[in-house]
Amino acid sequence: MSQFFHLDGVLHAEATPLHHIAEQFGTPTYVYSKAALLANFDAFASACAGRDALVCYAMKANSNLAILNLLARQGAGFDIVSGGELLRVVAAGGDPGKVIFSGVGKSEAEMRLALEHDILCFNVESIPELHRLNAVAGAMGLTARVSLRVNPNVDAKTHPYIATGLKANKFGVAFDDALATYRAAAALPHLEPVGIDCHIGSQLLDDAPLLEALDKLIELIDALAQEGIVLHHLDMGGGIGINYGEAGEDEPVPVGDYLGRVFARIDAWRAASYGGAPIKVIFEPGRAIVGDTGVLLTRVEYLKPGAEKNFCIVDAAMNDLMRPALYQAWMDVRPVALRDTAPALYDVVGPVCESGDWLARERALAVEQGDLLAIMQAGAYGLTMSSNYNTRGRAAEVIVDGDHVHLVRERENPADLFALESLLK
Ligand code: LLP
Repeated sequence: MSQFFHLDGVLHAEATPLHHIAEQFGTPTYVYSKAALLANFDAFASACAGRDALVCYAMKANSNLAILNLLARQGAGFDIVSGGELLRVVAAGGDPGKVIFSGVGKSEAEMRLALEHDILCFNVESIPELHRLNAVAGAMGLTARVSLRVNPNVDAKTHPYIATGLKANKFGVAFDDALATYRAAAALPHLEPVGIDCHIGSQLLDDAPLLEALDKLIELIDALAQEGIVLHHLDMGGGIGINYGEAGEDEPVPVGDYLGRVFARIDAWRAASYGGAPIKVIFEPGRAIVGDTGVLLTRVEYLKPGAEKNFCIVDAAMNDLMRPALYQAWMDVRPVALRDTAPALYDVVGPVCESGDWLARERALAVEQGDLLAIMQAGAYGLTMSSNYNTRGRAAEVIVDGDHVHLVRERENPADLFALESLLK
């Protein structure tokens, strides 16, 4: 059940009418539903119940401290891609012992920080990274637990910018090089290979490519075991998509079904080849946890009818929500207060000085200047990808819990945006 719905003609988040939030906190504002967040996490947690499994939320999707804290309290681990994200986990009360560190370009300083916090595992993506991590861990007198991110070369069938599991992508160690790379890792004194991982892409609606990738990881784990390199966990990455509400869009696979198929496959394999000995399974979902838990609330500044197009100019822009400009992503737009007047077709655009600054195109909307609109399913890769382009402060963020609204990030103040800058002496 969606936590965002029209009641008496007014869009609500849980029991809170969205116009109350606009009046209190202004616009643009990201509005998240606590109940939706907990329900999404629970879909993973309940499918993992009773198993040696860990859900490491991919916090790049939404790294607000309050969101991280709510998830940490449910037992979530975190998939991080920078030292900054690790500091957020710590600030939010998350457990570094449940953190995995992904990404192709980890710096020495980031490795040191992660080793100081004794994170669960580094997901390593290249041989030079193995050597660097070995050296950093050695200098600290420590051993780093590592997993290799293997590129299984499967087609995730998603937008090219968010497909990551093909040979042409910068990510991971090529499948054919994986055994040799594990041997190299095992030979380094300050590394302990403990796992294997992959991440083939994002916004996947079908789990078939993920299960194909799983089979390839299983093949490698077996081959490594033959050589005496025994892995203790298998990390499926993230990637499960959500419904953005576009006409004709396929439904995403339900989380419970996908996890059920992963566990069934793993159980059959472990029973056949390892006398039933379990292996820990890690998931790194981002969008599936937060995507449908948030909307971007924005106000119509002007309506600008034109010969070819009508523009609905709102106070949110590409700097607040980059997905349409960057991926031509389709995002649903709903008026907060429904009107009985006839709708017209509008491109919903922001105030930024770029033709690429659009949020939605050719939408039938019954709107007037001053109305509020909600850009739906904006909880993932919304604020985290926002920028200060045009010296626009980032939006505020609130979490709704029933009829309570908690401000969890203040709107940025323009003076703060240039506070780190200085004039020539
Ligand atoms: N694990 C790794 C190693 C990743 O690179 C990602 C996302 C995830 C997990 C989480 O994937 P998810 O479950 O959210 O699909 N900005 C794009 C999506 C980029 C995804 C990058 N990696 C968008 O707005 O569609």
